[in-house]
Amino acid sequence: MAIISVPLEKSYRLLNHGPTVIVSAKHNGVENVMSASWACALEFQPAKVTVVLDKSTFTRELIEQNGWFALQVPNATQAELVLNIGESRKENPQKLANVPLFYQNGFDVPVVEGCNAWLICKLISEPHNQQAHDLFIGEVMGAWADDRVFKDNHWDFDNAPDELRTLHYVAGGQFYLIGEGVKFDKGP
Ligand SMILES: Cc1cc2nc3c(=O)[nH]c(=O)nc-3n(C[C@H](O)[C@H](O)[C@H](O)COP(=O)(O)O)c2cc1C
Repeated sequence: MAIISVPLEKSYRLLNHGPTVIVSAKHNGVENVMSASWACALEFQPAKVTVVLDKSTFTRELIEQNGWFALQVPNATQAELVLNIGESRKENPQKLANVPLFYQNGFDVPVVEGCNAWLICKLISEPHNQQAHDLFIGEVMGAWADDRVFKDNHWDFDNAPDELRTLHYVAGGQFYLIGEGVKFDKGP
């Protein structure tokens, strides 16, 4: 397995199929991670993403202060971790104890080991959207993926181990794993 760089203008594809993500951030040496369903691509070039971050979250405070965050795309092996980090650091200061983090060269934003893909983003400050709608916009400054499941700038779940299928949250602790591909000779 290798972590390969993804061209920024293709990084929207990492989110296009609607996976549940993990959001991570760091400020003044304090790292944190949280789960988020409401993350989306916003623009091809410059590549931008959105994510909804509730005012109650500790991660949001780090992002507002530091101006950087990462979205990462977890897989089936990480379903329990995704639910566990849905608990706030405000209630459980030890929540990161079993979350392995690492850093990509040149970026001081922690990212979670074992995910399928990572997008490191610089916050585009939009105080009105953030306050009124909890909506955060980021420009993607770096993107990477696991080459076992993202090849030639496309996901290839059908030819990768099932454990690399992405998680799609419903509610009440229930996810769906990404299913089979259906392909037509058209589309962006
Ligand atoms: C699967 C899943 C999806 C979630 N999606 C979101 C989301 O899109 N936005 C959000 O603000 N919180 C979402 N949450 C809740 C946060 O993860 C939760 O509030 C968490 O405790 C925040 O952690 P923190 O306070 O340590 O930052 C989700 C939780 C789970 C388990």
